[in-house]
Amino acid sequence: MGEFLNDYYNWFTQAVKALEYSVHGRVWEPPYKGLVVVGMGGSGIVGDVVYVLATEVLDIPVTIVKDFTLPKWVGEGWLMIAVSYSGNTMETLHVVKEGISKGVKAAAIASGGRLIELAVKEELPYIQVDSGYAPRSAFPALLLSTLKLLKELGLGLHNDLKNSINVLRNRERADALAEEVIKAVAGRIPFFIASTKYYPLAVRAKNEFNENAKVLAKAEVVPEWGHNDIVGWEGWREPVAAIVFKEAGNEIMKFVADHLKASGVPVKDLEIDGSDYVGDVLKWSQVVGIASVKFALELGIDPRVTKSISRYKAFLKSLLKLD
Ligand code: F6R
Repeated sequence: MGEFLNDYYNWFTQAVKALEYSVHGRVWEPPYKGLVVVGMGGSGIVGDVVYVLATEVLDIPVTIVKDFTLPKWVGEGWLMIAVSYSGNTMETLHVVKEGISKGVKAAAIASGGRLIELAVKEELPYIQVDSGYAPRSAFPALLLSTLKLLKELGLGLHNDLKNSINVLRNRERADALAEEVIKAVAGRIPFFIASTKYYPLAVRAKNEFNENAKVLAKAEVVPEWGHNDIVGWEGWREPVAAIVFKEAGNEIMKFVADHLKASGVPVKDLEIDGSDYVGDVLKWSQVVGIASVKFALELGIDPRVTKSISRYKAFLKSLLKLD
């Protein structure tokens, strides 16, 4: 079980390797009518991060699909990046096949499985990441190879990935911050709250606590939070904790944390530097990853095993009558 924790501690090495992956297959070229990023769970979170980066940089529509089908308006001339660590996720495979049949220019990131088989058969551009991880512990490899693939396909979203990964060098700092997060969430249901820009981090943190520690957790997004969720906190009675991703200079996030503290809610602020989006996402994903794994280990829970996800996937297989 301790080896799984090492997967997170070793993210810097994983990231360095990811920047050296090669793109196989053909290379699509712009212009594209839009960009769609497809994937579920620990692979799908890459789409959330890419969405934030792409909406700030690109002048084409960008969307994410975490479902079995594409929106009607995604079709010929669009670029699709499909991310599936196993390469065998039903929802993702279904959408990729639909995209190819609609004339979408598809590309793939996976460690193997049917997605790589499909990419080879259809001569799609693809990057094959190292196998042997859980999808969630392969996050740097999945994110960085997606950004690399996008760049090769003419959509550079971030210039200095080599510099961004340096935040992963300091594992002692990540460990110390993880201990603070564990202290804040112990015995409580964590609510991770972030601005729209950092919402992928809140979702990532929620998912990590779900999958590694087997606990319920929630992710909330500001400013929408101020229009409904804020009222729920008026009558909080449950053992909850608010974990607030506070980026430097964001007065609204400061209000959120101050407001909750004034209501007596246990609040933990996580200070986001804000100068490099990819660096911030990697750093805080590592912190919450380590926290959730250590938390599981403290509870005597195996962080690697996600038997309910396996059960859901087996159900899907029988439902869709696939072998
Ligand atoms: C994360 C995890 C799941 C999977 C999801 C999709 O570690 O196990 O969230 O990421 O079930 O599977 P993949 O990533 O293989 O497409």
